[in-house]
Formats: sequence, C-alpha cells, structure tokens
Amino acid sequence: MDDMEDLDLNLTQTTRMFTKAELCLWEPKPEPCGLVIFGASGDLTLRKLIPSLFHLFSRKLLPENFYVLGVARTEMDDEKFRSTLVTALGDSVTQEKEVFSDFIRRFHYHTCDYGDRGGYLAMKKLLAELDGRFGVQGRRVFYLSTPPSLYPIIVRMLGEAELNQPPGDNRPWVRVVVEKPFGTDKPSAQQLNRDFHSVLDECQIYRIDHYLGKETVQNIMMFRFANILFEPAWNRNYIDHVQITASETLGVEHRAGYYEESGVLRDMFQNHLLQLVALIAMEPPSLFSADPIRNNKIEVFKSIRPFTRATIDRDTVRGQYSAGTAGGKSTPAYRAEKGVKGDSTTATYAAMRFEVDNWRWAGVPFYVRSGKCMAERVTEIAIQFKHVPVSIFQPIPAEQLAANVLRFRIQPDEGITMSLEAKYPGPKLCLGTVKMDFNYQKTFSMAQPESYARLLLDSMTGDQTLFSRSDGIEECWQILDPVLNKWKKDGEKGLHFYPAGSWGPGEADTLLSRDDRTWDLPYDSLG
Ligand code: BG6
Repeated sequence: MDDMEDLDLNLTQTTRMFTKAELCLWEPKPEPCGLVIFGASGDLTLRKLIPSLFHLFSRKLLPENFYVLGVARTEMDDEKFRSTLVTALGDSVTQEKEVFSDFIRRFHYHTCDYGDRGGYLAMKKLLAELDGRFGVQGRRVFYLSTPPSLYPIIVRMLGEAELNQPPGDNRPWVRVVVEKPFGTDKPSAQQLNRDFHSVLDECQIYRIDHYLGKETVQNIMMFRFANILFEPAWNRNYIDHVQITASETLGVEHRAGYYEESGVLRDMFQNHLLQLVALIAMEPPSLFSADPIRNNKIEVFKSIRPFTRATIDRDTVRGQYSAGTAGGKSTPAYRAEKGVKGDSTTATYAAMRFEVDNWRWAGVPFYVRSGKCMAERVTEIAIQFKHVPVSIFQPIPAEQLAANVLRFRIQPDEGITMSLEAKYPGPKLCLGTVKMDFNYQKTFSMAQPESYARLLLDSMTGDQTLFSRSDGIEECWQILDPVLNKWKKDGEKGLHFYPAGSWGPGEADTLLSRDDRTWDLPYDSLG
C-alpha cells in the first residue's frame, strides 16, 4: 500500500498503464470526511459497521482526517458510546492498542429524536465543529442504519437542516448510505425514491446490499469478464439451467418484529438473490463501473418473465419451519419463536423458478431457493451445463456422461469448482466425475474481508458500482409484488411446513422434478 501512496492513481484520467500487481496493492483512499451513523446504538452498527471501520482504519485505508458521529435516540455521551466500541471490537482492542487509541478518539455521539428539527440543528452545529477539528472540509457520509420506517423523516430533516449538500464542482460532497429493505413493495419503494430524490441527487444515494460487497460475489464479474473461456458458452446453447441456493441454519433470532412483516422474499430475494441472478445473467458491460453494470443488471430484471396467478402456483413454493434441529441446536417452530404470531403465515423459505426472456437465456430456468433453519449454511450458484450431444463412448449413452457443473461457492469455504468427466485409472471405458477446485483460503491464505468494509470504503470514495440504483430497486419489486400479494391473499393455503434442519419442503423438489431435474447438493457434500 505504502509504495502506491504517491501514485495518486486516477484510473479514468491517467494515460499511464498500471500493472496488475500495482493494482493489487492499491485502494483509492477517500478524501477527508466525517461519517454520521443514524442508529448508532443498534445491532448493525456494533456487529458490522464498527468492526469494518476498524478493519479499514488499521489498514490505513481511511483518511487521516476522519471522524465518526453516532446518532440515536438512546441517551449517551461520547464516553459511553466509545465504550460500546470496546465491546464491538473484542480482542482487537488489546491486540492493536495504539491503533485503537487513535481510532476511538475520533468517535463522538449525539442524542437525537429522529423527527426533532432542533436535534438536527444541534447536530449541524456539532458537525461544523467536528469538521473543523478533524479538518474534513464538510465532506460527509450519512449512514442510515435505523428501522426503515424512519428513512423518510431522517432524509426530510437532513434537507430541512440543509445538511444535504447538492453535488457541485466546488462543493464538499455529501452522501447517504441506506440499508435494506428499501420499501416493502413497488409503490412504497417508488415513494421512498421520491422522498430521497426530493432532497438528494441519485448520485448521492448509496442503497446498500451487503451481498455485493462479498469478495466471492464481486468475483463473479471477474470470472465472467476477465476470462475468455466461459463467455462463449454462457448462454442457452450450452447451459441447461442455473440454481442458486442461500440456506441458513439460523432462525429468526431476535428479529421477529422485522421478519414477521418481511419474510424470505423481502429479506433475501428482492435484494441479495435477484442481484446474484443479475450478475450471472447480465450482458458484458462496457466498463467495470457503476452505470454500465447497473444498466445491464436492470436489463436482466426487465427480462424476467412476470409472474401470473397461474405461474405463481406452479413456479413458486413457500415454506415455514416447524420444530427440529438446525445447526446442531434444537429449534422451536417459527410460530413458537418469541414475537411471532401463533398463526403466522410468514414464509421463512421460498423456492422460485424464474424465466429470463431474452436471446441469451430463453428456455434456461433459474431455480432460486433460500430459507432459514435449513440443513446447512451455504450460499452457492450452480451453472448446470448441457450434456454432450452424442456419446462416442459406447455403450455409455450421452445422458450418462455427467454434464459439467460450475459452482460459485459464495460462502462458506469460498471458492469456485468445475466438475468434469474424466478417465478413471484402470479399465479402458472407466469414466467418472472429477472436480477442478479453486479455494480462496488455500490460494490466498487470508480471511475474507467483511463485506461492509468494502461498501463503506466505496461510499467514501464515491463508487456506486456495488450499490443499487432507484430503477433497479423498483424493477426487483415489480418482479416480486404479484407473488407477495398472492401469498398474502392465500394465507395458510399453499404454505408448506418443513422441519428445522431439513432442506425445505418436499414441494420444492417437485419444482425441479417436474422439469426432470433435481436440486444440486452443495459441492462439499459431493465428495
Ligand atoms: C440479511 C438478512 O440481509 O442477510 C438476514 O436480513 C440474513 O435475514 C442475512 O440472515 C444473510 O447474510 P449472510 O451474509 O450471513 O449470508
């Protein structure tokens, strides 16, 4: 990193070519700025934001001139807020003592009722003082980590207090990062977009999807567009179908209030899983930068065949966990969890079959499933190729030569694996399936950085590539709204119960067996 600091790399304007090795050492460093976290006493701040900021800080990726202002309703002073950092960071506090003492002095706290104008004016004064003290020249990131119902009022208040600096040449930038869920359906997302746009320009809005910050998810684009080998086969001529699984062993935990309203479609599909579909299905963008990538993803969303009442019944399956053992722990039924209604019809599992109606993907279904309290924690994308057209290895028929499968293992044991047919040692016609494996841990011997670290850094450097644009969010709701409405109307009818610790309801198997297919097993179960 140090070697690169004086390079002042401006990738879009420079004429100098940088080597790949140089780029591996280089991260753009944000300009001096302050980070204001709304919801600073909340779980996300403690579990994700503070550890990610410390990770960036200890690697010298944050500017020297930097501070954090925590804002929340909870009464606290700076000292008390700082003590929460000690809890959030655990052992790192003692392991990196000096770094921590430089880090913690930058943290301040402001108690504020989110709807109180006076609280924002007082915050404005405090920010001006902190800006001066830390020399950040008015550049600010506001991070909305509150319950989503508070987003409209916070954004309006930022506007009323004139804390929303519109972008302009000589003005310090102001950006707003907003957590998911962004709306609960298309109309509410449109309204939220209007609320944001009445105060901020789209280029100031960073709608976060932490999946996009995962190294393995970012790698899908590198894999597809930095290698020549796969792109020619990346279409309906060679690919039979695509499967995406995001299964968790945890249940609803302490989030019943949120989850009861949200359910798996709003929680996982509208954002993370449709983003994975888009990364697999998108056309090559003209450049690895925000708008070309977001435009092409949105084209995918627009090509997804709209669900009708009939296709919802046929192509979607919803489930809810009943009591069982998941992740080695005895788990109560969802309906018996604290804060969940005894007759709740909230889906904790869904499996869906998407058709992407464009030239590349027509006739190639994307099967996507996700659930809580399942057999294993795994997120994996399996690209199932077609069988060879004819077998020369008689008497083995072509269908018995296993089709190639390319698996992106998003987590855990991050990696990519390709299954191939190969000759087994011994008899002349002995064939079997072998794996070509790339494993992050083995290759790079380092832990995966927390996805929030990537996204926080990008919001400070002004790179929106890994954030959703307003129209993208609305398109995703457009796909799911008919399903959400029908499921709500159907109530318990069509809700399938699955024991905690299983792979979900059997009806999800039918979704594939109807097409003569089966769910792929996570690749570590394949031996
Ligand atoms: C969050 C959802 O966005 O993603 C959670 O709200 C879910 O319900 C989580 O558990 C999964 O993220 P990860 O990174 O653990 O796969």
